[in-house]
Amino acid sequence: MSKITIEQKRALAKKLLLEKAKQAKANAPATKSEVPAAYESYTYDMFLRSMGSKPAEMKRFSEWVENAKADGMYAFESARTHEQNTEIELFRETGEKLKMLNFSSYNYLGLGYHPEVISAAKVALDKYGLGAASSPVISGTFAIHKQLEQEILNFFGLDGYGVSLFSSGYGVNLGVIPAFIKPGGHVVLDRSAHMCLLEGAELSKGKISYFKHNDPADLEKVLQEIHNGRSRILVCMEGVYSADGDKGKVKEIIEVAKKYDAYVLVDEAHSMLLAGENGKGVCEEQGVLELVDFIVMTFSKAFGGVGGAVVAKKELTQYINWFAKCRMFSCALDPAVTGGMVKVVQLAKSSLGQERRQQIKENAAYLRQLLQDKVDIGTTDSWVIPVLFGDDKMTMRLNDFLQRHGLDTSIMQFPAVPKNEARIRMFITSEHTKKQLDRAAAIILQAAEKFGFLKSNQ
Ligand SMILES: Cc1ncc(COP(=O)(O)O)c(C=O)c1O
Repeated sequence: MSKITIEQKRALAKKLLLEKAKQAKANAPATKSEVPAAYESYTYDMFLRSMGSKPAEMKRFSEWVENAKADGMYAFESARTHEQNTEIELFRETGEKLKMLNFSSYNYLGLGYHPEVISAAKVALDKYGLGAASSPVISGTFAIHKQLEQEILNFFGLDGYGVSLFSSGYGVNLGVIPAFIKPGGHVVLDRSAHMCLLEGAELSKGKISYFKHNDPADLEKVLQEIHNGRSRILVCMEGVYSADGDKGKVKEIIEVAKKYDAYVLVDEAHSMLLAGENGKGVCEEQGVLELVDFIVMTFSKAFGGVGGAVVAKKELTQYINWFAKCRMFSCALDPAVTGGMVKVVQLAKSSLGQERRQQIKENAAYLRQLLQDKVDIGTTDSWVIPVLFGDDKMTMRLNDFLQRHGLDTSIMQFPAVPKNEARIRMFITSEHTKKQLDRAAAIILQAAEKFGFLKSNQ
């Protein structure tokens, strides 16, 4: 039998998709026999290793992607048609248009599309133009960047502190860790730390150690081993862990770290503007704001923009400005986004910020309560709610199923989480309504029943 071409597959897929769409409308889940077998055998690590002098792993990956697209199973990189609101519309590669509830964006407070934020960005765009056109250290720093730095410092109200702005949240950790830790130093990471903390540690060329997730006693064991009174040590952790949604034990970790003269970096990507009475993060919530050496934030999450910053003692941020290479040798944060971020910080400090913080907590607690007895939501106690289903090979089918039933989530599998600890990850926002939360829970439970990850089935 001759091999089926990609074009033929596309044509077949279109037919199949029309049938599937009809089925989804009638709320009848797709049957397993419709699922192309190729997806059952897909694992990310199949493409990880170099396969010799020719880039064979890339060819292999490309084949997989093309096949996945042709079969209408490729739910990644779909083009959204408007802002990250609570309901979105997107186009799959096949041209199919799908409408769904949006639980996949980390626009936690809906500020990325707040009219005042958009207006502030437009004003900055008109005034400064599209790009900063230079490194922040040379000529890419504008008045609007200085204003944002000041807003952030006022927001924290810490004396003697400075702030370094970066054009990406990922870049903050890539830049800060090697600026602070040099060969001979140590970086000690929570086992669940985000990829950018790990890559920052690798770039530093210091020694890397890990402690068990959120386990201060294990950290102590690690520090006992490496502490020699001469080498600098940096402990890295998160405020709210991005894959599990649990809060970092910052207070206890700091207590241990300080016993061994170690410095502490807390990445508050998923907690800044959200946790703590005034939104200053988990460090504020646990009363340790001034004990943390580096407070990292990204502007892509609750800020609804892009970029990031680190807040630390001024002598540290001044040094970082020059020695974080991905800051020094890269263009400054774009001025329009910077203008929007100024407004975001102002709103976060206002009663609107307080109200939305309260609302996101209520929304997250409500959804956790709808799900926790029926599916495994792990240890989350925040607005990041994972639903663990385990098997990496199920990811494609499950993601497709969820989208076709009207729910967009941020699905995760290896290498974002350990192998076969795949999960549906939902980002709750202050803007979701109770009806939307109910509907999302119903779709999750429908999927759990079909794919066999209801608690009663396990
Ligand atoms: C904990 C953590 N730090 C840093 C980042 C990177 O931030 P950005 O997407 O703003 O570059 C992320 C992104 O998801 C994250 O979860």
